[in-house]
Amino acid sequence: MNKDRKVAVLVGSLRKESFNRKMARALAAMAQPPLKLEIVEIGQLPLFNQDYEANPPPEVTAFKQRIQESDAVLFVTPEYNRSVPGVLKNAIDVASRPYGKSAWNAKPTAVVSVSPGVIGGFGANHALRQSFVFLNMPALQYEAYIGGAAQLFNDKGELANDSTRDFMGKMLQAFAKWIEANAA
Ligand SMILES: Cc1cc2nc3c(=O)[nH]c(=O)nc-3n(C[C@H](O)[C@H](O)[C@H](O)COP(=O)(O)O)c2cc1C
Repeated sequence: MNKDRKVAVLVGSLRKESFNRKMARALAAMAQPPLKLEIVEIGQLPLFNQDYEANPPPEVTAFKQRIQESDAVLFVTPEYNRSVPGVLKNAIDVASRPYGKSAWNAKPTAVVSVSPGVIGGFGANHALRQSFVFLNMPALQYEAYIGGAAQLFNDKGELANDSTRDFMGKMLQAFAKWIEANAA
């Protein structure tokens, strides 16, 4: 486990004070070598239009390249209406095309869903997993449904709950092993 493993982190919320972004930053700060977590932004991506998939806008090309250069992908997302926020599904769609040229293919992945509610974004977490099957992304089996998000972060936006930090640290360790076992 000596080689750095670049993990693209996609946050499914564009909100400035997003709990999911705070969690993504906390995970990036906690990650131990060989994992290197970097948030890859998705808010600049145009809405997917199949008319342009053969000749995509530069934002799409740059985004696909960031994913292709990564060893793995970590999704940190809220649940919207019991499913995946549109902005995140759009990012998945744009980088999955043209058919046969998907940036996601064979990338090991993991999901964390964060919500102020009690179900912890379970619906979004599992809706994403449905796409992973088609996208051929081997997904870590780790149930990171994080509820009660409004109580987890301090004024500086840091993850201040010890048991959640411990749980997430174990997830990162499991993800590191998963990447070593499944990286292309
Ligand atoms: C359009 C919309 C739909 C939502 N649907 C759900 C939902 O199905 N389940 C849930 O737990 N929270 C839902 N929420 C509340 C979000 O979990 C909450 O706004 C959360 O803070 C969003 O994540 P963020 O803090 O990372 O932006 C919804 C919020 C919005 C704006």
